[in-house]
Amino acid sequence: MTAALPDLDEQVTVRAPGKVNLALSVAGAGADGYHSLATVFQAVSLHDDVTAFADAGAGLSVSVSGEGAGIVPLDETNLAWRAAELLAQHTGADPDVRLHVSKGIPLAGGMAGGSADAAAALVACDALWGTKLSREAMHDLAAQLGSDVPFALHGGTALGLGRGDRLTSVLVRGTFHWVFALAEGGLSTPAVYGKLDERRGDLVVPEPRVPDAVLTALSAGDAVALGAALVNDLQPAALDLRPDLRRVLEAGSESGALGGIVSGSGPTCAFLARDHEHALDIAVRMTSYGVCRTVRAAHAPVAGTRIIG
Ligand code: C5P
Repeated sequence: MTAALPDLDEQVTVRAPGKVNLALSVAGAGADGYHSLATVFQAVSLHDDVTAFADAGAGLSVSVSGEGAGIVPLDETNLAWRAAELLAQHTGADPDVRLHVSKGIPLAGGMAGGSADAAAALVACDALWGTKLSREAMHDLAAQLGSDVPFALHGGTALGLGRGDRLTSVLVRGTFHWVFALAEGGLSTPAVYGKLDERRGDLVVPEPRVPDAVLTALSAGDAVALGAALVNDLQPAALDLRPDLRRVLEAGSESGALGGIVSGSGPTCAFLARDHEHALDIAVRMTSYGVCRTVRAAHAPVAGTRIIG
C-alpha cells in the first residue's frame, strides 16, 4: 500500500505587510461615524503569513501563532475568518477552509495587522477555491472588511482618501529604514477616533490634506526631510489615552531618529533612520531605555499581499 502524497494544491500561503501612516490627516466624523482621511500609507517588512488548508465539509476554523497568539480571537470576529466567509458568500464557494495565521505584526498596534490577515485570507481562499476574483472585486470585498484592508492588498506606498480605501500609488525613490517600538497592550481604533472628536469639540475641522513635504521627500528618497515631515492627527488622542507613549517618542528622538510618530491609532511608535545600520543603532539604544515591550527594525516600501507558497 502506498501512502497518499499531500496535494500541493490543497494549501496556499499568502504574505501580507503591516503599514505605517507617514501622514494621517483626519476630518470630522460623517453621518456613518467614519472620518474622511487623507493619508500616506507605507507597507513595511513586518508581515503576517496566512496559510489556507482545504478542509472539505469541515466549515471554517482559524488558528494563530506568533505575535499576540492567545489573545487573537479564533471565531467569526477574526478578520481572516470574516474575509473567508465574505468571499464564500460573494462567490458561492463552500466556506470550508482551515486558516492558520502566523503573526509578525503587533496586535492592535496601529499597524493594520488584522487588516493584513483579512487581505491575506482573501487572496489565499481565492487561490484555494479557484474563485479567481478580479482586482476590482477583490478591492471591493477588502473595503467591506475594513478601511485598511485595501492598502494591505495594494502594498508599496499609497495616498489613501475617503476612509483610507481609495488608493493611488505614490512615487518613491529607494528604501526607507524604520524602527518600531512595540508597546504593552493595544489601543482600540474607535476609541482613538472618539478621543480625537472629543478633543476637537465644536471646532471646525478643515478638509484633510497630505503635506506636500511628505510627497516631495518620498519622491526624492530624502529620509531626513521625510523624518521632519511625518504627521499624524491621531497622535494627540493616542497620547491622551496612553500618556506613556510620550516617553517612547522622547526615547526615539534621544536615540537619534530622524523623526518619530505614533503609527496610525497606536500604540506602536515608528522611528525613521538614515539606513539599515542607523536603524539597528536606534533599536539598540531604544531597548536600553526600557520604555517599550520590544523593538523591531524594518524596511519599506514592500509589496502588497502575495502568494508565497
Ligand atoms: O474600517 P475599520 O473597521 O478598520 O475601522 C475601525 C474603526 O475606526 C471604525 O469603526 C471607526 O470608529 C474608526 N474609523 C474612522 N474613520 C476611518 C477609519 C476608521 O472613524 N476613516
